Amino acid sequence: MDAYLIEARRTAIGRAHPDKGLFREVRADELLAELMRRTLAEMETGEELTAALDDVYIGCVGQHLEQGKNIARLALLLAGLPETLPGVTINRLCASSLQAFNFAASTIAAGDADLLLAGGVEHMTHVPMQAATDYHRGLLSRYEFPFNNMGLTAEKVARDFGVSRHDQDSFAVESHRRALAAREAGHFDREILPIDTPDGPARQDQSPRPGTSLEALAQLKPVFAADGTVTAGNSSPLNDGASLTLLASSAACKRFGLKPRARVAGFAVVGLDPCTMGMGPVPAIRRLLEKTGLSLDTIDRFELNEAFASQAVACIRELRLDPEKVNPYGGAIALGHPLGGTGTRLITTLINGLEQSGGRYGIASLCIGHGQGMATLIERL
Ligand SMILES: CC(C)(COP(=O)(O)OP(=O)(O)OC[C@H]1O[C@@H](n2cnc3c(N)ncnc32)[C@H](O)[C@@H]1OP(=O)(O)O)[C@@H](O)C(=O)NCCC(=O)NCCS
Repeated sequence: MDAYLIEARRTAIGRAHPDKGLFREVRADELLAELMRRTLAEMETGEELTAALDDVYIGCVGQHLEQGKNIARLALLLAGLPETLPGVTINRLCASSLQAFNFAASTIAAGDADLLLAGGVEHMTHVPMQAATDYHRGLLSRYEFPFNNMGLTAEKVARDFGVSRHDQDSFAVESHRRALAAREAGHFDREILPIDTPDGPARQDQSPRPGTSLEALAQLKPVFAADGTVTAGNSSPLNDGASLTLLASSAACKRFGLKPRARVAGFAVVGLDPCTMGMGPVPAIRRLLEKTGLSLDTIDRFELNEAFASQAVACIRELRLDPEKVNPYGGAIALGHPLGGTGTRLITTLINGLEQSGGRYGIASLCIGHGQGMATLIERL
């Protein structure tokens, strides 16, 4: 049985900043609840669909404070969805919401559900990345440096794969250029649902910086290693944001007259050396192509999460991807990376981009902390 992508929406992505952040006064649960409520309200048959939902799968990395105690369930209650609707929160670090999406597709494909919400959220202002962590000493000492420092993994990838500071900064400049051009062209209008904040509705991503230039980026000091190449300008920033998809079986599509935007055509997840976690998309995409029997040149568009420019450039080179097909609307360096919210943000931008460009197959892929990689294939219908 197939699973179909019916709708995909996201919030704007705010900077994680106590004074400047778009969502500094909106809680993570509120952000997600509002996205759930608005996504369903925007759909013609929203009320009927809401009553028929089987479950809600939400990805979130920092599952404590306002993101704790199963934010999927708490947010759906906050959104006023039926009390009879369950919800579960999933953690596969940066790929948490892509995992939620893949689990939802599997559940539908197995015939265990007909209608599922799958998405993710992260509010890195209110729940910082390092909050409430307690790594085992044995793990921290096993690797050549603290493998939980993502910036150091990016430095290692830069060294091992020969990605220079200039290569990284050029990639970052292009990410900002593409993100701003896509915004200017109105390409994000189909995906961003405005969320109310005390400053008014948040309609635009906050991290793309007009005026990002090679000269400006060259001035920035390395942040993770004094003699390194990874800076605030060629890393993904810290962000707040949420994304949400609705998946359905073919029976549900018929019953509710839904027009699927895409078919979920396959997914893959792999493990690799935690010290080079940024290379995760390489084995993940290779495994996905093997599983689906498709060749790389049949893929029209890639949404490859830009955790760091070093790993994005190294993955593109290793896989020999056409850079024009990768993140045509910019990537996380410019748009932002609200950890648990990113996976289905990639799916949202991917289906949106496939529809706008007329492509058929698209892959969303992420590297994942502690050494994993994930990739998901969708076929636009
Ligand atoms: C790299 C990192 C430590 C930088 O943190 P930060 O110093 O708070 O970064 P900011 O985004 O606030 O940028 C700091 C400064 O760099 C400069 N800067 C950043 N991006 C810039 C750009 N595109 N052009 C020009 N200047 C830029 C600015 O001066 C900026 O200060 P401002 O915002 O007050 O103007 C942080 O973003 C980080 O940890 N990123 C990785 C997150 C991560 O690991 N995610 C998981 C991946 S697996």
